[in-house]
This record gives sequence, C-alpha cells and structure tokens, in this order.
Amino acid sequence: MVARRVGEVEISGIRRMFEAARPDCINLGLGEPDFDPPAEIVAALADATRNGANHYGPTAGLPKLRSLVAGLYTDRLPSTTGDNVIITSGGSEALMACALALYDPNDEVLVPDPGFVLYAPHARLVGARPVPYPLTERDGYLPRMEEIERRITSRTTAIVVNSPSNPTGAVFPRATVDGIIDLAERHNLTIVSDEVYDRITYEAPATSFWGRTDRAVIVNSFSKTFAATGWRLGFVVAPRALVGPIGKIHYHIMACPSTPAQQAILVGLETGFGAMRAMVQEFRGRRDLAMRELARVPGMRCVRPSGAFYIFPAFDWPQSSVEAAMGLLEAGLITTPGDSFGSRGERHLRLSFATSRENLAKGLAILTRYGEQFTSRSSMRARRDR
Ligand SMILES: Cc1ncc(COP(=O)(O)O)c(C=O)c1O
Repeated sequence: MVARRVGEVEISGIRRMFEAARPDCINLGLGEPDFDPPAEIVAALADATRNGANHYGPTAGLPKLRSLVAGLYTDRLPSTTGDNVIITSGGSEALMACALALYDPNDEVLVPDPGFVLYAPHARLVGARPVPYPLTERDGYLPRMEEIERRITSRTTAIVVNSPSNPTGAVFPRATVDGIIDLAERHNLTIVSDEVYDRITYEAPATSFWGRTDRAVIVNSFSKTFAATGWRLGFVVAPRALVGPIGKIHYHIMACPSTPAQQAILVGLETGFGAMRAMVQEFRGRRDLAMRELARVPGMRCVRPSGAFYIFPAFDWPQSSVEAAMGLLEAGLITTPGDSFGSRGERHLRLSFATSRENLAKGLAILTRYGEQFTSRSSMRARRDR
C-alpha cells in the first residue's frame, strides 16, 4: 500500500531527540535563531493579511521580490535579474525541487558527510544514489578536492555543497569554492550550493558560488536571515536554462509560495539587514563563550565555527553519538547526535548556540559534568590497574 521510497528515508534524529525531551531540559539542539523577526516585517505581514494579500500569487514568486533577490547577487554577476530567481517555500522545498529537477534515477550525487539532513534523503527519494564525501576535523571540515574527485564516476551528475555549514560551522575560503567549480567544470557536474547561512559569518564573509560558473544553482532562505523559519520562504537562484525546469517542479510541489510572507519579506529586503547584523554580533559573543567553556569539557575537542550557529565537537568518550546524546538528555541537556548528519558525524555532537547566554552556560556546565564522569572512571580504572 505504501510506496517503497518511504522506506528509503527516516525521520531525522533531531526530531527524535526533541520528542524524547523533558520540558525543563536546556536546549542546545535548536536549528533556528532564538530571535523574533524584525518588528517592521512582522507589522508588514499583519498588514498584508489585512489588506487582501491572502490569495495565490505567481508560481515563481512576486516579481518585485524576485527582482530584489536578484539585486543581492548582481555584485557577483551583473546580468542577474528576477528571471534567475524562484521564490520557494523555504530552502527545504528549494532543495527538493532541485533534486526532482536535476537528478535522474541511478545518478550519483555527491553529498557532504557530515552534512545537512535533507541532501542524501532527497537524492534517494528521486531514485538517485547519494555518495558521501568526507569532511574531517583535521581539515577544519573543509572538503578536500582529491577526496571528492576519487568518488566521481561516469554516473556522477551533481555535487551538493554547503557553506557556511550545518552542522560544522565551516565557511569555505575562496580557494575551496574555486576548487569545487574547477572540478565541476572538468567533470560536467551541476553544483547545488546551499547558502542558507550566507549572512551568518564571524570572520570573513561567505563566498557564493553564483557568478563564477554557469553550473551552480544557489539555494537560499529567509528563514535564518530574518529569524522567520516558520514563514517558510526561501529561493533558488539559477542559470536561466534551469529556472524553467526547477520552476516547473516547484509549481507541482507548491503551486506558489505564501503571498503575505512574500509581502513582508519584501519590506525586510527594502529596510536592509540591520537587525540581522545585531543578531550575528550576539551569536559571535555566544560562540566565543561556548568555545571557552568547551575547552574545559574532558575528552572533547572542537574546531571553532566561522559561520552558522553550530559547534560540532568530537568526543573520545566510550560511547556512540546517540548514547552520548541520550545520556546528556537524561542529565537535562538536549544536543543533536552527530551521526544524524552522516556516518562521519559519529562520535560528535552538534551544539547550537541559538539560545540565551544563560542557557548556553547552564548547558555547557551539564556537558562538562557529563565528560568528567569518564575521566573519573578512567582514572579510577587506571588506579585499580596499577
Ligand atoms: C543547511 C540548511 N539548508 C537548508 C535548510 C532549510 O531551511 P528552510 O527550509 O527553513 O529555509 C536548513 C535548515 O535548518 C539548513 O540548516
């Protein structure tokens, strides 16, 4: 009765974690900003619904919004216009529309490991085969070209990249972007570049894949930028030849994106990113606080994230990532087990600093106590063995 493809995918480990949590747990599992959207766009959303913007709109989105989005990319490619843009129901729908429009059954699609939870399942749902490429702590979770190249076969048609990364917080330097473009050009690959955290960076700005090749499709979202994850609005920026095919699939999934949410986001783009910059400033402070505290957790190591709002520490406790996350949950802390992001996320946890400094400090204290039990056990064992 149920289609076989349903068995190809699982509900993400992140959701399972939340379902098991007590209400008084400290939550470092959040995948969204703990801020409200800027007041002027909240007001614009209310105005839009009061003023009749409650109906279907154009499939590819409101022309004015498409053109404002294109304006965010003209510094990279001056010829970018609204015709390159499709407004979607979040980055999630954009990723699914790309998978349906760009991957054929039996294609091989390179996906980051660890990487965001939708890339591999989307490939599987359309009958393609996700091929994980490794991101390692030693490389600061940046992809190595030779590791990607080794995995390319005659069936490989696309590569998914994500910078700034969920779960690692790594931000590609320009050389990495250039390396991937070079590789895609040589092997005829489409690049699906998930840039939903592009404005949340702490050192250098993120480098978009747009404008340097005609092989890149950009997936982006207003979810994180405007702290409006529940509004479900994102977009694709694509070469004109791909806008038609992706737009066609988008029509069959969604008909059109939310009209009032688009009206509100329009106001957000017109007023600028002031609120977002303040949010990023606060995230930077919390990241620094978290890094200081994490240095005290026995058996834990981490690479400092340069973007997004996650830290992805590795641990050497005698546990799997699910066991560690479950143990922490019992101790009152929600984290996300690293293996939710792929097999190379094993023995890692993802911690989100999209929560108050007070919660962050409490959560990291729980983590420290949790790590201490292993040092005291191993030192007890060492004493006993002497
Ligand atoms: C890397 C990445 N891509 C895409 C998304 C999808 O976001 P949304 O559908 O809210 O735009 C998320 C959400 O967490 C994400 O972390």
